Amino acid sequence: MKLARTMVMVLVLGSLDLGGAAFAADSTAVKKEEVRMRWWRDARFGMFIHWGLYAVPAGEWQGKEVKSIGEWIMNNAAIPVADYEKLARDFNPARFDAAEWVRIAKDAGMKYLVITSKHHDGFCLFDTKATDYNIVKATPYEKDVLRALSRECKRQGVKFCTYYSIMDWHHPSQFPGKSKTGGLAYNPSQMHPDRKVEYVAFMKQQLRELISNYDTGVLWFDGEWCDWWTEADGKDLYAYLRKLKPSLIINNRVGKGRKGMEGMSKSGEDSGDFGTPEQQIPPSGFPGVDWESCMTMNDTWGFKRNDNNWKSKQQLIRNLADAASKGGNFLLNVGPTSGGLIPPPSVERLEAVGRWMKINGEAIYGTTASPFEKQLPWGRVTQKSGRLYLHVFDWPQNQKLVLPPVKSRVTGAYLLADPNKRPLQVSQTESGVVVSTPSVAPDASDSVVVVKVHGGNR
Ligand code: GLC
Repeated sequence: MKLARTMVMVLVLGSLDLGGAAFAADSTAVKKEEVRMRWWRDARFGMFIHWGLYAVPAGEWQGKEVKSIGEWIMNNAAIPVADYEKLARDFNPARFDAAEWVRIAKDAGMKYLVITSKHHDGFCLFDTKATDYNIVKATPYEKDVLRALSRECKRQGVKFCTYYSIMDWHHPSQFPGKSKTGGLAYNPSQMHPDRKVEYVAFMKQQLRELISNYDTGVLWFDGEWCDWWTEADGKDLYAYLRKLKPSLIINNRVGKGRKGMEGMSKSGEDSGDFGTPEQQIPPSGFPGVDWESCMTMNDTWGFKRNDNNWKSKQQLIRNLADAASKGGNFLLNVGPTSGGLIPPPSVERLEAVGRWMKINGEAIYGTTASPFEKQLPWGRVTQKSGRLYLHVFDWPQNQKLVLPPVKSRVTGAYLLADPNKRPLQVSQTESGVVVSTPSVAPDASDSVVVVKVHGGNR
């Protein structure tokens, strides 16, 4: 299981100082983890894709809008399994183009994508041998979209990753409870006591397929809150997957990770490799622990026709910088239509983030959290060796950008958007660093000032 990064240092030093067998074994595990997590930590920005049968009703059932998020419609409109299954006949994404989806992600500056291989509704977007309730067997489309995406990701150099729901509203091992009004309540699913072994075998078969046939880079679990799923089950599944693919990265919801950082303790007893704060960027990050904030662009994960509550481009760019400045990744969601298109408002926003990333990507990729304990009033800070990146949200009207004291010697500064790297004037004293900035901000969302430092960054 995962070891927190603060422990990593202690263990590595420990093994050097003491050379004890136990430390040596631990440090090997630590090194493996460091290697395994490297691409993911450097990537910082990924695309989440929620796609499935729920894109057909798109938030409406029997002529009425269903409250809450689109991919929960089976539960929220209490749709009987036999009726929900029929949606598969209308799932025919004729306009799906794997190359185009991957291009959109890549042009936005995203280095990986995570797609729903099976959401809570149990419908599978891949050619699984474990059930016929899948895109190839149950829809008129008959093609394996995950295979197409996985191939295209390889071709375009984007990491292909998959989401997988532990809770399954369709699998016969589970059954719904009753809602307060006596109707169907799929969530949380109930387990037939003598069928859990069968269901775990089913999951393992599907997960093995995702690893061997699609080479998934991350298994992103969800739906772990059912009472019948235990932390011990999570540990067993983690160990099973780790053995199948040593380089696989697994999120904390494989155990009772819930939606945040629960389970990501620094004790070494954690479930999974990274925490998953949802719809928020934690106020001060989680030093020493890997995490990724997942977020929608409007209010729902799966496509919902009438959800037009879009976040602004500026907000999304700032969220990405915010997450990076706290040492986390940003997984930004799109919910494609049942016809196979990423909605135009999402594409527009991704293009805007992409334009910003083309100029400022250096201040995101491969960076670590801000060295300053306090958040600075004008924006955020990320760093790499020898460089501080000042993400300025509020451009200083007096043309003076003020940083807290930096112990190492500051050797220069320039605007990342300036191809000629013309030097900005800097003064360093014991009370701080002041960079003289031009009167107009190069970018209304986030202008990056690079500060060069000699030696460490503090
Ligand atoms: C929640 C929801 C789910 C969504 C997920 C993304 O757990 O149940 O619909 O897929 O969050 O993090």
